[in-house]
Amino acid sequence: MPPQTSTTLIHIMALDGIVNVNSIFTIALFIGLTSTPSDHSYTLVSTSTCAATAATAQRLVSRHVYSFSSFLFSSLVALGLKQAIRIADHDHILNCHAVLHGAGRVDLRMLRVGILGSALGSVFGCVFLTLALVDWVQIKLGVLGCWGYYTLAAAIPLEPPHRQLKIALFVKKWPDKHRAGGLERHALTLHLALAKRGHELHIFTSNSSSFPVYPALANLHFHLSKPTAAGYLDQATVWEQFRAENSTGRPFDVSHTESVGLRYTRSRNLSNLAVSWHGIAYESIHSDIIQELLRAPEQSQSIALTERVKKVVEEVKFFKHYAHHVATSDHAGEVLKRIYMIPEERVHVILNGVDEHVFIPDAAKGIEFKLKFGIRESKSLVLGLAGRLVKDKGHPLMFEALRQIFMENSTFRDSVLVLVAGNGPWGARYKELGSNLLVLGPLEQAELAGFYNAIDIFVNPTLRAQGLDHTLLEAILTGKPLMATNLPSITQSIIFSKEMGYTFSPTVEALKKALYRVWEDGREVLKQKGNLARERGLKLFTATKMAAAYESLFFCIYNNDYCMYKPQIS
Ligand SMILES: *[C@@H]1O[C@H](CO)[C@@H](O)[C@H](O)[C@H]1NC(C)=O
Ligand SMILES: *[C@@H]1O[C@H](CO)[C@@H](O)[C@H](O)[C@H]1NC(C)=O
Ligand SMILES: *[C@@H]1O[C@H](CO)[C@@H](O)[C@H](O)[C@H]1NC(C)=O
Ligand SMILES: *[C@@H]1O[C@H](CO)[C@@H](O)[C@H](O)[C@H]1NC(C)=O
Repeated sequence: MPPQTSTTLIHIMALDGIVNVNSIFTIALFIGLTSTPSDHSYTLVSTSTCAATAATAQRLVSRHVYSFSSFLFSSLVALGLKQAIRIADHDHILNCHAVLHGAGRVDLRMLRVGILGSALGSVFGCVFLTLALVDWVQIKLGVLGCWGYYTLAAAIPLEPPHRQLKIALFVKKWPDKHRAGGLERHALTLHLALAKRGHELHIFTSNSSSFPVYPALANLHFHLSKPTAAGYLDQATVWEQFRAENSTGRPFDVSHTESVGLRYTRSRNLSNLAVSWHGIAYESIHSDIIQELLRAPEQSQSIALTERVKKVVEEVKFFKHYAHHVATSDHAGEVLKRIYMIPEERVHVILNGVDEHVFIPDAAKGIEFKLKFGIRESKSLVLGLAGRLVKDKGHPLMFEALRQIFMENSTFRDSVLVLVAGNGPWGARYKELGSNLLVLGPLEQAELAGFYNAIDIFVNPTLRAQGLDHTLLEAILTGKPLMATNLPSITQSIIFSKEMGYTFSPTVEALKKALYRVWEDGREVLKQKGNLARERGLKLFTATKMAAAYESLFFCIYNNDYCMYKPQIS
């Protein structure tokens, strides 16, 4: 067969393809056009503000028609060409040179132009069909401006725009890189993540002489002010800065304050404000009780014990002046609803999260860490403690429990190594316990990741019942099981099953018993628990999850319609 004939065949097959596909679209569009609904009961949107307007419906119909015409045009051209080729082919049998020399009825140039025209018709048909589909999604699920979750999920593959929020943050202090408490780290992790997601962040915080280096992101703006003598944000100055920024360009969509960064005297005028609580007085009462029970007879009673109840009453009175409340643990959420009497719909639980790209299981990092600190592999169990080495983190308790065990059981003492990261007054005391306890001092974040990888279990004997300790979450993401005080925030939100670790009452007896149990269970059991802990941790405690939960809460505050579709947070 001469090559010309096979070229003709390919042309016919291509045209057949165009005709077939276009026919399907044309028929579908015709059916779609004749059944385009006119009544509003057709929509799935329950609020009238979000329902698409009549203009959208008109646009849907006209785009439908354009698409229909384009496909029809494309099909007709293709059919015409096909016919022309067939006729030419027939002549070809009679006159072999017709096509070859371009002298026949089909001019190759014309053929190309025809196919191009047909293809263009199909492209326009597809474009109009896509636009019509976007309209259809809006009619069905609510206009895009309303940000219904399902509207977004359905339309994003079709139409890319993403509403960027303008967010204000009030925080007492912006953290100095690694030396940061829980509240500041929360502020840093969360708002950097939000900025990276494209939102416009304005951070109102205090200036200090050793001001940390700002992350350089174009959509991250700092508004500094001189702190008050007590170290709080100067409310009058901050409020002026906020008002000024609010009146330039576009106003703030949402505001967020870390604890009382913005005091209730100002917050009461903001309906789109969320406050994140990192410790409330009611929870502190639990810590006060524990401290009092552990108090040695020669120490004097803490004045906090009697003052705390008054503080709770004070908080109950002013908390209601914040529009939305974020609790960082399930227990704190319950307290806010029941004891602080904040309506359920204004209380949201968003657990803390830590950077899942830094805290990952990596045996090589663990070995490198051990080498660096001269730790020998001979011990059968490595316990790790990290954080500030102070009384209310439970270090006196841990010290006493280890001291007693080391004295009474030499097998335990010889086979266990305890690593202590961090600094504080109890660092020096720990050194008294001998050579199987190493005090490593404060560690940078990267070193800390190595530390978690070098241990078998992470121990946190904290007596502070407030907030969720970051160290626990870091250890979980590194795939290590936990051993921690059985405070309600910990047992309800972190170690909610024995499969993830061990909990104990804050007494020396209970802590000793738990330490023996861990030791008897041994490395293999701990490894299993650690794997399970990481699996659950990835679902609950990553910085990405936390930022996504806050983002959907902020969208919900910005536009109430969004809340209807809000995926379950926590
Ligand atoms: C912040 O403090 C530094 C050092 O004290 C000072 O140089 C700077 O001008 C201050 N910035 C503002 C905005 O007050
Ligand atoms: C911020 O600006 C908006 C729009 O101009 C206004 O409605 C709102 O009251 C302003 N907020 C404050 C706290 O000034
Ligand atoms: C808040 O609003 C009240 C009345 O709605 C007003 O009297 C008060 O001055 C406002 N406070 C601030 C800080 O704007
Ligand atoms: C240490 O404790 C283990 C487990 O409780 C026990 O089997 C062992 O006999 C004890 N060793 C000593 C020297 O007390």
